[in-house]
Amino acid sequence: MNKLIAPSVIAADFAILGKEVQDVKDAGVDWIHVDVMDGHFVPNLTMGIPSVQALSKIDPPPMDIHLMIDNPEEFAELFIKEGSPHVKLLTIQVEACTLLHNTISNIKSQGVMAGLALNPATPLNVLDQVLPMLDVVLVMCVEPGFAGQKFIESSVNKIKQLRKIIDSMEPDERPLIEVDGGIKLNNIKKVSDAGADVFVSGSGIYATDNYKETVAEMRKLIGS
Ligand code: DX5
Ligand code: ZN
Repeated sequence: MNKLIAPSVIAADFAILGKEVQDVKDAGVDWIHVDVMDGHFVPNLTMGIPSVQALSKIDPPPMDIHLMIDNPEEFAELFIKEGSPHVKLLTIQVEACTLLHNTISNIKSQGVMAGLALNPATPLNVLDQVLPMLDVVLVMCVEPGFAGQKFIESSVNKIKQLRKIIDSMEPDERPLIEVDGGIKLNNIKKVSDAGADVFVSGSGIYATDNYKETVAEMRKLIGS
């Protein structure tokens, strides 16, 4: 499979959000990453249902919605419905969800990919019982909450370990590895070599002058 690039719109200029999304679409990105925060699970508030509704009206690239909220089981379905038909992937945080089995099944039954995100300090063994159910494992490479943070270096080893575990699974059960937080031109190759498939980048794209050039350069570095 081709490796995928998903700009995180959290780092875009919200005064011209539609244009910012169109510009990365023109740059040929695969998905856009939408960070939803609730001020409880993480110490910040960002986008919510109205933002997803608005984005879905401008024919965006497939949406990758990352819920950094408590009780995601209460909202997952609503986000999928309000972003329809543009939601490709709905990801919840493992630390925020006690009803994991049901919530993952429910996301999949809505016809979108199901992702599970792990914070930097969360060990891989939380995946033991659910890995074959997942379409994506999202490895957080910063503490969730804010764009523009520094990539946590120990994430590279975590990705390598996860790659090994996933490669030992049946080919049709293997989830994608997505990485999120601090991904930029200067480290994307290292993370790709460690085994990542999907690259979320907020400031790594939106803080550059020419999105098209940045995305093209990223693709070159990851061979996509
Ligand atoms: C962190 C979010 C990320 C992140 C991306 O809470 O989930 O999507 O902000 O932004 P950068 O790439 O700037 O770290
Ligand atoms: Zn995110």
